[in-house]
Amino acid sequence: MTRVITVTSGKGGVGKTNLCVNLAVQFAKAGLRPCIFDADLGLGNINILMGIHPEHTLEDVVNGEKRISDILIHDTCGVDIIPGGTGVEKLAAMTPEGVSQLIESFSCLEDYDVLFFDTSAGISRDVLSFCMASQEVLLVVTSEPTSLTDGYSLLKVLSLNGYRDPVKVVMNKAKNERFARAVFDKFNETVKQYLPIEVFYAGCIPADETVSAAVTRQRPFTLLYPSTRAAVSIEQLAQFLLDNPGVGTSDIPFETFWEKYMEVAGTRLKLPKRKKTKLAKAPDAVQNSPQPPLSKAPVSTGDNPLSGQVLASLNQLTTVITDMSAEFKEFRRSLSEQTNGSAAPGDPENDQVAPQLPPIIPLDFEAYKKKKHNED
Ligand SMILES: Nc1ncnc2c1ncn2[C@@H]1O[C@H](COP(=O)(O)OP(=O)(O)OP(=O)(O)O)[C@@H](O)[C@H]1O
Ligand SMILES: [Mg+2]
Repeated sequence: MTRVITVTSGKGGVGKTNLCVNLAVQFAKAGLRPCIFDADLGLGNINILMGIHPEHTLEDVVNGEKRISDILIHDTCGVDIIPGGTGVEKLAAMTPEGVSQLIESFSCLEDYDVLFFDTSAGISRDVLSFCMASQEVLLVVTSEPTSLTDGYSLLKVLSLNGYRDPVKVVMNKAKNERFARAVFDKFNETVKQYLPIEVFYAGCIPADETVSAAVTRQRPFTLLYPSTRAAVSIEQLAQFLLDNPGVGTSDIPFETFWEKYMEVAGTRLKLPKRKKTKLAKAPDAVQNSPQPPLSKAPVSTGDNPLSGQVLASLNQLTTVITDMSAEFKEFRRSLSEQTNGSAAPGDPENDQVAPQLPPIIPLDFEAYKKKKHNED
């Protein structure tokens, strides 16, 4: 059986592709046969990170001009690669006959021990389809509020569409393990309260300049700089994943993955409702709420010199996550498939031009939770 791991994120540029490539390299080192499916239909970067130049992509397979085995790139640092490109988008529009032929041709992928899907960021149909079809989703976030709120939004849409498997969360570009844990705990608290999905801490990768140095050299950083903190963390994460396979991963035939993918890709997905009246009223109501006293801060950090910094970040995080979880946050326009032509959700460029953060609103978190509980 092939283990399928979908690596995804709400926000772009958080490190999915680097994580995929380096995890796959570690799985290969452990004696497994990994393959990465570059499922980022926009700006797939696997080829850049691995220094390869694919001649053909999944699009040629979807068009019936090539077979999967023709487009596979073999043994780049022990990893095989399937360049998805715009072919990913075309999968959803195929005829039923085309789909069954394609599913049959995908059967050659069953020889792999693990297949990583490196998705685009955000809540587009293809991202949701890969996640819904997988038994194992690795959500990559950083401690930035935008990354966490977008990650939360992705989990919310998954849960709205019936996804219930536990999601493993990787904290990337972390300041340190302790801070990453504290941020994850806050994120987890909110998810537990509002969503029927469980999240687990899978590990953290520190912010490390050797990562971008390796990108420049087009080689996985775990191979170029194996003794750095980032590389060691990837090794630990790979070990964690090897020790903790997804629920039911080994029981589900690979064919089922593609059938489920096609099914989700062809259905109308449920998206969060936008509560217009509440959106207009909520900020005032919230703004008038008293600030929580410092003694009610989310985490007690003791005498540690980091405490002020940690406390400030977590308080800001509480504000932003709660604001978003109450659906005050405008979900990005590209939530729905009707957003043809607009920038992808989480597109880093888009974020630079117009940051998506909601305004910071002072909030009595406890009072809000009670109010929300009473409303429900
Ligand atoms: N642990 C890290 N430390 C420092 N820089 C990092 C780390 N992880 C990723 N980066 C940097 O972040 C940038 C984005 O990484 P990457 O392309 O892997 O993200 P992504 O989530 O796949 O992006 P996209 O959403 O565009 O596909 C790169 O410049 C990379 O060098
Ligand atoms: Mg990427």
